[in-house]
Amino acid sequence: MSQELSALIYLVAAALFIFGLKRLSSPATARSGNQLAAAGMAIAIIVTLTNSGISAWTIIAGIIVGSGVGAYLARTVEMTGMPELVAAFNGFGGGASVMVASAEYLQNPDPAVQTIVTIALSVVIGAITFSGSFMAWGKLNGKLPGQPFGYPAQKLIDPLIVATIVFLGVMLVLDVGGSFVLWTLLVLGLVLGVTRVIPIGGADMPVVISLLNAFSGVAASMAGFVINENALIISGALVGASGLILTNIMVKAMNRSIANVLFAAFGGADSTGQGGTTSDKPVKAASAEDVAITMGYARSVIVVPGYGLAVAQAQHVLRELADLLEAKGVDVRYAIHPVAGRMPGHMNVLLAEADVSYDKLFALEDINGDFPRTDVALIVGANDVVNPAARDDETSPIFGMPILDVDFATTSVVIKRSLSPGFAGIDNPLFYNENNLMLFGDAKAAMQELVKAVAEL
Ligand code: TAP
Repeated sequence: MSQELSALIYLVAAALFIFGLKRLSSPATARSGNQLAAAGMAIAIIVTLTNSGISAWTIIAGIIVGSGVGAYLARTVEMTGMPELVAAFNGFGGGASVMVASAEYLQNPDPAVQTIVTIALSVVIGAITFSGSFMAWGKLNGKLPGQPFGYPAQKLIDPLIVATIVFLGVMLVLDVGGSFVLWTLLVLGLVLGVTRVIPIGGADMPVVISLLNAFSGVAASMAGFVINENALIISGALVGASGLILTNIMVKAMNRSIANVLFAAFGGADSTGQGGTTSDKPVKAASAEDVAITMGYARSVIVVPGYGLAVAQAQHVLRELADLLEAKGVDVRYAIHPVAGRMPGHMNVLLAEADVSYDKLFALEDINGDFPRTDVALIVGANDVVNPAARDDETSPIFGMPILDVDFATTSVVIKRSLSPGFAGIDNPLFYNENNLMLFGDAKAAMQELVKAVAEL
């Protein structure tokens, strides 16, 4: 195939990646976005294979095995296991970049300066991504402790590792020490991935995974420069940029900085329901029947789902409740906070699982102004994302975090098991408001009772 034709086809593949990414920004178009990007990747692989002189059978065998494992995992993984799966995929991406860059070095240990710089970057960033992602994977699936932990003198040793990596990188570029330096860089990158991720708490792992996703993209892009492969440079750069944008959206929505997530342990509440209230003020505990009457005779209800909805797997019974209310003429909508739950888009996928129509889901900025005109705000297993202290109390650690203004609704109803704090580990003044009702219990059980009570109205 001529160079011009392959360049043109790579351009088509790149355009498909970009249109695919664009469509991923809405749940309604995400599926087709995925398919577009996958088609782009298939085209890029075919062109690369056609142009390369590598034995096609080895590659085809690799594609069959890799695609088979990927398809099996994607089909069988539970929605709750999705962040771990993404972490593992990132890790493999980083590992692949390490292999591509080191193979190139072994084939030609005396490359041009720009190539050796990209080899060093690809190996170090890929190695950090590989080991860091598998630490994140372990923390999320419980194989490693979720709480932050480190090792003695970490504050001293980690910067020393970084300084050694920079020093060895310069040695490699100056061609001093040969492949020993490259292998040492690889080992130090692996060590740094471990030591930087273990001190971060399990609940912050979605941010870490998104950052490592960006790292895997950068490593792949560097590997693309190493082997002079345009499709890899472009797709890696897109993964790197979108990973960084997502990381930025998440930390902003939590009113934190990336440095704060990476270097300061935060929160600590494990949402086990074991903690007690941090205030002596009285709350209004309601029965399912009380709440059913309040909602059954309302004109408008906004549901705010949170992490507890996912824990209780109560999305289907929530949908049942919404159907019943709608049959009684109540307008039911859902308000989605960008970091509700424990992974980006967590609430969207949960509600999609229960076939809640996308047009009933509203982002924070699109629905927040409607709470003062809403009869009931029903908060299911959410806490920090509806904490008015973030808006009103300058001394609160979450002050400035955008929240859903549920306290402006005529009545707010909170379904959770106790007055325990959420991920941020702080008390929620909403619970003690005059117009707030607490329906204590597991979200699924409480909503099953609600469904019964609404049906009997
Ligand atoms: P949280 O503030 O963590 O609150 C969840 C609440 O769910 C808990 O207070 C808990 O109260 C309740 N709960 C747990 N299991 C339950 C069950 N079976 N039934 C009923 N309730 C249950 O959740 P949120 O409002 O969704 O906020 C998310 C938090 O995570 C934010 O602070 C955010 O910054 C942080 N975070 C999110 C992300 C992403 S990407 N989503 C990333 C990092 C951090 P009880 O124990 O009393 O039941």
